[in-house]
Amino acid sequence: MTRTLELDGIAFGGDYNPEQWPREVWEEDVRLMRQAGVNFITVSVFSWPLLEPEEGCFDFGWLDDVVELLHGAGIAIDLATATATPPAWLVRKYPQILPVTADGTQLEFGSRQAYCFSSPIFRQYALRLTRAMAERYGKHPAVRLWHVSNEYGDHVSRCWCDTSAVHFRTWLRAKYTSIEALNDAWGTSCWGQHYLDFEAIEPPRESTGPINSTQRLDFERFSSDAMLELFTAEVDVLRDVTPDLPVTTNFMSILHELDYFAFADAEDIVTDDAYPDPADPGAHIDASLNYALMRGAKGGAPWLLLEQSASAVSWRDINVPKAPGVMRLDSYQALAHGAEGVMYFQWRAARFGPEKFHAAILGHRGEASRTFQECSMLGAELQQLGALKGSRVVADVAMLCNWDSKWALAAPDSLPTNRLSWIGQARDWHRASFTLGVTVDLVRAGADWSAYKVLLVPNLYLATPALAAQLDAYAAAGGTVVVGAFSGVVDENDHVHHGGAPGPLRPLLGVEVDEVWPLPAGESGQVRMDGDLHGVHTAGEWLDAVDARSVASYSGGELDGRPAVTVRQHGAGSAWYLSTCLEDAGLRELVHRIFLAADVTTRDGAGRDVEVVVRRNGDTSFTFVLNRSATSLDVSLPTGAAVLVGGSDAGQGAEGRCQLQARGVLVVQHGYDDSVHVVARSAQLQTV
Ligand code: GLA
Repeated sequence: MTRTLELDGIAFGGDYNPEQWPREVWEEDVRLMRQAGVNFITVSVFSWPLLEPEEGCFDFGWLDDVVELLHGAGIAIDLATATATPPAWLVRKYPQILPVTADGTQLEFGSRQAYCFSSPIFRQYALRLTRAMAERYGKHPAVRLWHVSNEYGDHVSRCWCDTSAVHFRTWLRAKYTSIEALNDAWGTSCWGQHYLDFEAIEPPRESTGPINSTQRLDFERFSSDAMLELFTAEVDVLRDVTPDLPVTTNFMSILHELDYFAFADAEDIVTDDAYPDPADPGAHIDASLNYALMRGAKGGAPWLLLEQSASAVSWRDINVPKAPGVMRLDSYQALAHGAEGVMYFQWRAARFGPEKFHAAILGHRGEASRTFQECSMLGAELQQLGALKGSRVVADVAMLCNWDSKWALAAPDSLPTNRLSWIGQARDWHRASFTLGVTVDLVRAGADWSAYKVLLVPNLYLATPALAAQLDAYAAAGGTVVVGAFSGVVDENDHVHHGGAPGPLRPLLGVEVDEVWPLPAGESGQVRMDGDLHGVHTAGEWLDAVDARSVASYSGGELDGRPAVTVRQHGAGSAWYLSTCLEDAGLRELVHRIFLAADVTTRDGAGRDVEVVVRRNGDTSFTFVLNRSATSLDVSLPTGAAVLVGGSDAGQGAEGRCQLQARGVLVVQHGYDDSVHVVARSAQLQTV
């Protein structure tokens, strides 16, 4: 059953914490929300202690008033189940629900999210509150979305307490059935780790030295599953009481600890909390990769940006504000990438607590605050963009994301280098595509990849025969697969494939890896590509191209002359292998060459500071041009195109052209085949 968010237009609003304010402020809040164009508000995220001040005694009066107030103003509600933080009385009655770290430290009450997600006691109380919330508010016309808990994995993503240990053993029993199977999978014949019984197994707590890497990998899988189990237990209660209301839980962009594909399967709408660092000039590029996951998690379906900051956050070492125009650019970036809502943490800036210096729509200065002015202008603009709804992002290129492989590659103490991570590689490869003006989707194993011309696989350390077969079939059918270094190394138990890397990917890639060759910290080597392209690399592999053509080789050093990049035809498609980590310029050259060979159109005028993304719905296209540079752009418009957003920063110039000012946003509606081009820059732009 498909449950969608029933809301007119683009969702615009944020987290509202009325419990931090006297009642007389609530009226003003709602008045200003209307003034700012707010149509959707999240409430009760951390309200458990107020909703159940004593065990079993619920007090919904204040929330009833808030719900009615918002409803009266025509504002719809994303209602949290309020289970993100247990109240003090629950923790004091059952201190065993507090989480424990790997070194045995029990974390104290005093912040938020202080519970072990495996605790049956916590679950029992959380589900009782969830049911009470669903019964009280599930039929209220203002309530349009359930917001379960908050950012699973924030603060606590792993727990090593005794309850978790019991849960872990149950999970292991279900997975392996026999202790012999576990001993085989974990390779316990190494270092005398053999187990006679499941009861003897503990979570991978601090130990004398490096811990069994399969035990660690299973603990990663278990911990993600355990949180998912808690989430689905709440979802089941909600579905029982309110079968038609959509459910979400807010993601934390590409979080390492949770398999978001599995979470997305359990919810109706994907929502993300995104906090690109204004101090990082490349943060928006990584944000674009995060958003690729948000739409990819449900096969391209619309998602919501549920939290962003109107300016600075409060939790970085230095919390740099967003310069004027940047919040607007960030918001349109999410919309460009398939979002149907732009929301903030939070509505009104707090006066106390750890987040009192976190920006909000309504700053401490009230209506006069810059954030309120900028957000209100955006709110008004978004009201004109309802036509965007239902359109989907157009992308010729996908990138494979696989949590199992990410976790396996993150095992400390047992890898040739601890400097290689999936996210690091993914960001590098994505940055190369971004600066070429190419939009990338993130996809999972088992999804339908047939619409993509190129599939990027920056790293697939853990490769199963089933995934290798899917990659094979994709290339055989005409796709271009690009696989990065240190892939196909281990199987699902983290055992090295017989014969070594690339294991089950060997028939596809036509190479054999003899040795992995990380360079000492601070050192780099050279890669020489055919046609005089050059790249600097930091780690490589002693590679033999047994059935592939080498298109680049190592130059100098111990790997001198050996293949660094290979390609081979595979059925109707082709398979590339990049056996090293290239720095930006070299990687961009290589990716460009691969895109050209695969007929993927790159965009002139793109670069680090200019992003162009297209959404499409039937015959109608929407092109977003986001100009983060300090100079203006000339943009050509197809005949009959309508400028939906541009306003003051994109005055129509000569016919078919418009000027997009520095830090400007342009959204153009046009036909299926026409396209919008950046034709000139008023000065040299900074590119990677
Ligand atoms: C997260 C949380 C919010 C808030 C913000 C601050 O996204 O979900 O409650 O703490 O961080 O940036």
